[in-house]
Amino acid sequence: MTTPDGSGAGTATAQPPWGSPQSGTLPMPQTLPVPQAPPLPAALAHLAGGSRYWLPEQPDRETATPPSAAAPSGGTPPTAPTPPAAPPAAPPGGFDVEAVRRDFPQLHREVNGRPLVWLDNGATTLKPRQVVEAVGEHYAMGTSNVHRGAHTLAKQATQVYEEGRQAAADLLGTPDQGEIVFVRGTTEAVNLVAQSWGRANLGVGDEILVSAAEHHSNLVPWQLIAAERRARIRPIPLLPDGQLDQDAYRDLLGSRTRMVALTHASNVLGTVPPVAEMTALAHRYGAKVLVDGAQAVSHFPVDVTALDADFYAFSGHKIFAPTGIGVLFGKRELLEAMPPWQGGGNMIDSVGFEETTYAPVPHRLEAGTGHIAGVAGLRAALQYLAALDREAATAYEEQLTAYAMAVLATVPGLRLIGNAPGKIGVLTFLLAGADPMALAGALDQQGIAVRAGHHCAQPALAAFGLQAAVRASLALYNTVEDVNSLVAALQDVQARSAAAAG
Ligand code: ALA
Repeated sequence: MTTPDGSGAGTATAQPPWGSPQSGTLPMPQTLPVPQAPPLPAALAHLAGGSRYWLPEQPDRETATPPSAAAPSGGTPPTAPTPPAAPPAAPPGGFDVEAVRRDFPQLHREVNGRPLVWLDNGATTLKPRQVVEAVGEHYAMGTSNVHRGAHTLAKQATQVYEEGRQAAADLLGTPDQGEIVFVRGTTEAVNLVAQSWGRANLGVGDEILVSAAEHHSNLVPWQLIAAERRARIRPIPLLPDGQLDQDAYRDLLGSRTRMVALTHASNVLGTVPPVAEMTALAHRYGAKVLVDGAQAVSHFPVDVTALDADFYAFSGHKIFAPTGIGVLFGKRELLEAMPPWQGGGNMIDSVGFEETTYAPVPHRLEAGTGHIAGVAGLRAALQYLAALDREAATAYEEQLTAYAMAVLATVPGLRLIGNAPGKIGVLTFLLAGADPMALAGALDQQGIAVRAGHHCAQPALAAFGLQAAVRASLALYNTVEDVNSLVAALQDVQARSAAAAG
């Protein structure tokens, strides 16, 4: 694991992650308010450099082209629509989007007679051939259970499985593989924490703060355990641009706060909350923090050690890996103190009718045979990602997002929901006069895949007075041409409905 260099740690005047103090609308003081607090987490080191994210040091690479100097491109200047800012002649250094696209077979198929434009990455990402091959290889030649076999194939499968765990530890920045629990996905991870940690630690009148930007999977599990334990859910409200209201958050924190459930990147607004700072505040009240990283991990590097997150969850299928496999990170001392959630094979030490003892973490929390092929695919996906220049990939996505927001704003009648500074490439919108589901259907006819509906985040949409919207969500393999196809299709829909009306 690489750790931040620490420069800037302990200072409280660095530029906040939601933008410069001048440009931001958030009424957040530049200094955190509790003077006796311990030094701010190392996660803040990156802020001194003006970056929203912590990025591993890559001394041998050239710094990526700054966003102000270039916007991303697949190399071809766009034709329609006319973009508000000229795209660059070449993508930022170190990231070759066309080479990446060649690894994703599905990007090269047609849908409804048109080349596929995959803008539904928030729902699931496509898989590189390396992942497809790893899963196929496991089933074709490497099938075996893990951990309990005495034969060669069991040993080989176990090695792949534990290398997958190590890859997840590396992705999240923990040096301790024992802090990585395999689960089905983010939803199961949150349910595991709620049912195990929550049942052991929540009592009458205790409070769980849940941001209004959360996916249902980081809200409903807390509602279930809160009802059982007679604890209370308290929402952290949103500001009009989709940021979390930090003043309200500070007011909500108190001696009854036991848990703060936070997204690292909203699946409907794209907002990236200042998780390190919010975690540091929560810890001052003795509360734990669970971070839903489902939408974050594929977009920017994450370091749970720097964030000081107590729990961090993500799903494999949103980071180029198979469905049905995901990861829960938990600090070792918390995992070790958590009672088992599910019982069965793999999670025990010894079993008797009088007494049963349990295996050490993480296995104690992994009852039954895991998704072995899924872990093989996850390992391949994380190895694939690790081989990319992630700093350049993140810079590329940031520029593509800025481009997409600017060009979508040129579409008459289009309302973008969520424009927090530093948001990821989640572009949720309404088009005047168009039903979201019907609009998604019309885009599908042109080969453009987007999601429409409530996006499993009804409170977030309700904060904007909405029940449904269309969402185009970007990944590192999307291009200016994809965005232009979307905008041209939206203009086409508008032209057709105007012709039909007129
Ligand atoms: N959580 C996924 C989404 O946002 C399914 O679409």
